[in-house]
Amino acid sequence: MTTTKSDFGVVSMWSQVEAAPKDPILGVSELFHADKDPSKMLLGTGAYRDDNGKPLVLECVRKAEKKLIEDAKNMEYLPTQGDNQYISRSLDLAYGKEIGNAEAIAGIQTLSGTGACRLFAEFIARFKKGAVCYVPDPTWSNHLNIFRDAGVETKAYRYYKADTRGLDFDGLKEDLGNAKEGDVVLLHACAHNPTGVDPSEEQWLEISKLFKDKNLFPFLDSAYQGFASGDCDKDAFALRMFKRDGHAMALAQSFAKNMGLYGHRVGTLSIVCASKEEATVVESQLKVIARAMYSSPPLQGANLVSTILGDEKLNALWLTEVKMMADRIIDMRAKLREALEKSGSTMGWKHVTDQIGMFCYSGLTPEQVDRLKDEHHIYMTRNGRISMAGVTSKTVEKLAQAMHAVTTS
Ligand SMILES: Cc1ncc(COP(=O)(O)O)c(C=O)c1O
Repeated sequence: MTTTKSDFGVVSMWSQVEAAPKDPILGVSELFHADKDPSKMLLGTGAYRDDNGKPLVLECVRKAEKKLIEDAKNMEYLPTQGDNQYISRSLDLAYGKEIGNAEAIAGIQTLSGTGACRLFAEFIARFKKGAVCYVPDPTWSNHLNIFRDAGVETKAYRYYKADTRGLDFDGLKEDLGNAKEGDVVLLHACAHNPTGVDPSEEQWLEISKLFKDKNLFPFLDSAYQGFASGDCDKDAFALRMFKRDGHAMALAQSFAKNMGLYGHRVGTLSIVCASKEEATVVESQLKVIARAMYSSPPLQGANLVSTILGDEKLNALWLTEVKMMADRIIDMRAKLREALEKSGSTMGWKHVTDQIGMFCYSGLTPEQVDRLKDEHHIYMTRNGRISMAGVTSKTVEKLAQAMHAVTTS
């Protein structure tokens, strides 16, 4: 075997490794940061910005941070399942009065929503061998990575209809109607990423009935509770309905967006079981998986969430702040649509305000997205997904003009 040495005298051990393709979302940020144009605009990653385009630390989080310093909480390891008080408050927020017998829910603190999805995927790989996980087409691109790496086969079910820019409800029912008994189905609890298209309440009820008839297992991914409509109860409609309908189900929660705790990696995985005994067993296995992956979850984010949810005043402040973020996004949708219509565009832009949540699934083609980048220094994922949280009242006109330009010529 020939060995080659680098200029630093190190023998190359990895010459057979090929460079991985760029992540479709994170790759956009890399290109943006390399662009020197002062007017460049980043609408790729789903992270909230205020109306000056700056990241925001919520006031309730600042207050909770102060309180934690005053309380001089220790920095010991959390147990493998995380902070029990945090978990219980997180589950109360999600399930509300539908929580029922909380002891029959296995709950574990996770590394944000991604970690919750990954832990659940690992659990399925071990204890539901052969089950397929159905994911909506399209879905958040990392869902596919997560299930692939856990060794769980995924199949797509129809979700979005390009010609109506709405839900393909018939397609969804037909595809899930063909799933096998016991298969897992991933549902976005609200503010579907990337389309911003959610089923109506009546359609959710029909979906729940279909799951019952076919004995399918719902896995709800709730990354945007409160952030979609501004109302945490409204955004929990689907997951609470599934709980009320008596499904064995699982739920991934994230506090990245709704509390702005992106980097703290704070989330929860819960699995609704048939009894307290079953929940204890399930939780013990979730801990085995977590122990070998990261041993115990991070402390500070869970302390912040627990402090906010457990304090009447901080909780009330948080609810106003999460509504303020949701409202700003809703306002930007209205302004973008108005500016597009005023620009003389003859294309329909009603979907911009019909969709909900952080993202606008604009309908722009990959080629049009490339032109936005090359000619206007505007960056978004090639599926035409615009992070509305990155649009401000100062940039919305420019975005509309650029979108009009690339869709007309
Ligand atoms: C649908 C969905 N699930 C989960 C996540 C996980 O995010 P995080 O790991 O930051 O909580 C995201 C983030 O974009 C998402 O959109």
